[in-house]
Amino acid sequence: MRSIILIGFMGTGKTLVGRRLAEILGMTFIDTDTLIEEAVGMSIGQLFERHGEPYFRNLERQVVASISEDHSQVVATGGGVVLDGENVAHLKKMGTMIHLSARADVILDRIRNQSQRPLLQTENAKKRIESLLAQRAPSYALADLEIDTSELGCEDVVERILRYLQESKNGTSAG
Ligand code: S3P
Repeated sequence: MRSIILIGFMGTGKTLVGRRLAEILGMTFIDTDTLIEEAVGMSIGQLFERHGEPYFRNLERQVVASISEDHSQVVATGGGVVLDGENVAHLKKMGTMIHLSARADVILDRIRNQSQRPLLQTENAKKRIESLLAQRAPSYALADLEIDTSELGCEDVVERILRYLQESKNGTSAG
């Protein structure tokens, strides 16, 4: 079976939704950030602090390449994974790519005071979110489906994904 890949900005629910989806579908759940943390024995926050973003991106690229031949998994990715064209090509080939989105104010609310989001440790986090969202929009748009999670709970999002997968299978999906 093809994998299900969740992409999208920090705080859009990729990990929560991915875990639940995997449970329902009886598939393995993996999270690229967790794989990186396990590989280096450090949290993402520590990794950014000690080695910087380029070092993290390099590890992220290696992790994505290392899972690219896997099947039947639900994969939650880090919010910036789509910045790299090679990552996108690998992930698209693996299965259905779903973009979980949310409004900037909702994202800010959800990630407020979370030190494991090093990119948002800045004075004006809202502005930073808006500019990163704008910069990444074309990459997120490469997904097969977008779900705006701003007003949705985890179960609602999972339900929409399941419906989409069913419709795609039946050939009735509007895309
Ligand atoms: C990042 C998102 C984070 C993590 C890292 C960089 C980003 O993952 O990979 O802090 O560039 O948006 P989550 O989206 O799971 O928070």
